[in-house]
Amino acid sequence: MQAEIDTAPVVRLNRANEDVPVMPDYSPDRDLLAANLVVGFEPMNERVHPFFNMRSQLLRAVHSSGKRVFGVTSVQPGNGKTHISINLAAALSRIYPTILIELDLRRPSVGNRLGLPQLQPGMDDYLMGTVPWRETCLRIHGFDLTVSRVRDPRDNAEELLASPRLPDLIASLRGIEGSPVIIVDTPPALVNDDLMLISRVIDGVVMVVQEARTPKRALLDAINSLNPTPIVGSVLNMSISSPQQHHDYGYYYMPPERSGAR
Ligand SMILES: Nc1ncnc2c1ncn2[C@@H]1O[C@H](COP(=O)(O)OP(=O)(O)OP(=O)(O)O)[C@@H](O)[C@H]1O
Ligand SMILES: [Mg+2]
Repeated sequence: MQAEIDTAPVVRLNRANEDVPVMPDYSPDRDLLAANLVVGFEPMNERVHPFFNMRSQLLRAVHSSGKRVFGVTSVQPGNGKTHISINLAAALSRIYPTILIELDLRRPSVGNRLGLPQLQPGMDDYLMGTVPWRETCLRIHGFDLTVSRVRDPRDNAEELLASPRLPDLIASLRGIEGSPVIIVDTPPALVNDDLMLISRVIDGVVMVVQEARTPKRALLDAINSLNPTPIVGSVLNMSISSPQQHHDYGYYYMPPERSGAR
């Protein structure tokens, strides 16, 4: 039987006897976001447009298939998974309830990228069973975005990812009010089997490919190893053939019949 998980924000009294949410609101530092290439919160930044297009494609998949939990992965480390996850989640959260969950337990970077407080418990603490999930969450001020990042790198990632606490949480999140889209920042596909453990709880994968770096054979192996979890889209990141070089994305989303989307 599935454990019940309390994902709703609860209230407690502060010293002034006012209700304050346990999921605190947080305003990231804009200069830090800019330095870390987090553009998804900035509607006027031209670099946000590819993420607006990605979100539209993803929402089309959400509406047509009813699937709402998507992992962002790549074959190798450093291809841009976290960059895409954060910016896509930010862009989505401007128009749709969104939850960003970090499950790269060995090399977490969401907290630093967004400048989140370091002491708050994280997804790693939840998976270890030391805190309820809602205590790992921050709400990004002014956006419909909840973030649960990993607090500390964990060598025992496979043990934590194999815990029933992960499927229990995702099952609970599927049922919460507002039907949020859940973006999961994952480890690379072929470095170890962490992604296999994650793939059992997600509905689809956005594959980040780095031009001239991701080997075709390894990419095919990664896609095969994820089967039956479908690839719902792919992002060509840091395209060397684009005029703007580093900051451009070629991307496309495969139609369901080609990707095998459920
Ligand atoms: N399109 C881009 N333009 C410029 N820099 C980028 C782009 N995508 C990623 N980067 C930078 O490349 C570096 C690696 O990106 P990122 O950390 O997102 O990759 P990752 O796949 O999550 O890495 P890891 O496997 O270590 O988790 C970061 O410094 C990031 O800011
Ligand atoms: Mg990463």
